[in-house]
Amino acid sequence: MTIIDGKKTASEIKQEIAAEVAEMVSRGERAPHLCAILVGHDGGSETYVANKVKACGECGFRSTLVRFEDTVSQDELLAKIKELNEDPEVDGFIVQLPLPKHIDEQAVIHSIDPSKDVDGFHPINVGRVSVGLPGFLPATPAGIMQLLKRYGVETRGKHAVVLGRSNIVGKPMATLLMQKANPGNCTVTVCHSATPNIKEICRQADIIVAALGQPGFVTEDMVKPGATIIDVGTTRVPDATRQRGWRLSGDVDYANVAEKCSFITPVPGGVGPMTICSLMINTLQARKNNPYR
Ligand code: GUN
Repeated sequence: MTIIDGKKTASEIKQEIAAEVAEMVSRGERAPHLCAILVGHDGGSETYVANKVKACGECGFRSTLVRFEDTVSQDELLAKIKELNEDPEVDGFIVQLPLPKHIDEQAVIHSIDPSKDVDGFHPINVGRVSVGLPGFLPATPAGIMQLLKRYGVETRGKHAVVLGRSNIVGKPMATLLMQKANPGNCTVTVCHSATPNIKEICRQADIIVAALGQPGFVTEDMVKPGATIIDVGTTRVPDATRQRGWRLSGDVDYANVAEKCSFITPVPGGVGPMTICSLMINTLQARKNNPYR
């Protein structure tokens, strides 16, 4: 059994990006510039955005954090997005989700210039990726594809089961796994809250991508010997033994499942670090796509 080390892989990729950026800068070109918009003070979002800003530093990127209180109006937010769309010195930007209830998330995503949508959430990017055209891939599925590639996990002709159908992870994950590419070429089944026989379907899987947000959902009896298990879950569960009072729990019962599989991602240190890495890859690409700005 091989533990897929996302932290190490992410660190290697960031070093590769930093070397490329150093070369760009030595040629007299401007370093990539990522902006992040953070609304409110949600603990998880604060951490994610802080980590994104830190990763920019590691890659040699410029970064700007734009903060709004959670009372911000949708119009104010859209005005800021318009400003970033028009700013030639901003290569890409993200609006950290979730947003407060009074703001229409889809309206916000629609207002982002697709050429700066480094989250890959705009329908133009979703559509381009879906038909196999170049476009920004959403961070988590793209990070998982990098892990499958770099660890040499055989995907061609394999049965991949994706647990969860979110726009951010489940749906794009299924799209990428079924694509005629390597990694890819899987037969894909997507399971969700209305799927009656998830256990039986999982038992037929060569690859399981668990993205339900239900700690310990994938148990040992659901896993075929030799399967590859990718755990996207990052639920904060109370833990009195930790100083901060919680720990991160994945969707997989790791202790019992690990012995049975050929590859497995731990939580933390598996998919999580790769997600930010994908954002860095997209930002570098956004910078390269328009050499004139
Ligand atoms: N919230 C959870 N994941 C993400 C992500 O990848 N991008 C943004 N913008 N918000 C998120």
